[in-house]
Amino acid sequence: MGNNSFFVKTKRWAKFLYQYIGERLHGLDFSMVYLGELQKNNDAFHYYSMTDVDDMKRMLKELPIDPGQSAFLDLGCGKGMCLKCAVECGFKKVAGVDLDPHLLEIARNNMKKLHMDVDCIYSNAAEFEHYADYDVFYLFNPFGKQITEQVARKIIESQKERNRDIWVVYYNARCAEAFDSTGYLFQKETHDQMRDLTTRYYLYPKK
Ligand SMILES: C[S@@+](CC[C@H](N)C(=O)[O-])C[C@H]1O[C@@H](n2cnc3c(N)ncnc32)[C@H](O)[C@@H]1O
Repeated sequence: MGNNSFFVKTKRWAKFLYQYIGERLHGLDFSMVYLGELQKNNDAFHYYSMTDVDDMKRMLKELPIDPGQSAFLDLGCGKGMCLKCAVECGFKKVAGVDLDPHLLEIARNNMKKLHMDVDCIYSNAAEFEHYADYDVFYLFNPFGKQITEQVARKIIESQKERNRDIWVVYYNARCAEAFDSTGYLFQKETHDQMRDLTTRYYLYPKK
């Protein structure tokens, strides 16, 4: 069944409404659409859209790792839904970077309300200097080809600082070439249930 069928669209809206009401009751904000000044989709920068909570947890469970021994970074974390999921999946350290200060403020507020100890870092992912602190990197199609290539290379370079298995979970993998062509080992592909988008899983193994 396609992701635009009447059934799937209705299910998506019903879930959105249910989540939205739940969030409002708890003073949270993950799913409301936000289109600020920065959030004008262009080739390099992709606007905020939230990963579905159940799809995110399914994606994280695909990884053959012990979350309790792994640090998770969401590249383009937006309002922080994936950070919440990573904490709930038991990652020992969780952080996100984003280029939009307004979204980060919302993410920090969400984490505070949920009593989750998570860093929401203001940075362009292409300039972020602390990739070595993390093992698992999540991307929901946050940026275009050039930045994805820069980020893929920076993550590889971080292995010189800390030798470890590096995992990349790339949802709606529009610029997969950036990982396919730089030495990451493609592991598998899955499709989500809510949007019928593809996730690609990569490993850059420990030397
Ligand atoms: C599709 S949203 C994904 C949000 C979140 N990861 C999720 O799945 O719910 C992409 C996010 O990437 C951010 N972004 C775009 N370009 C960026 C860059 N160069 N560095 C850091 N964040 C960026 C946007 O502000 C947006 O919040």
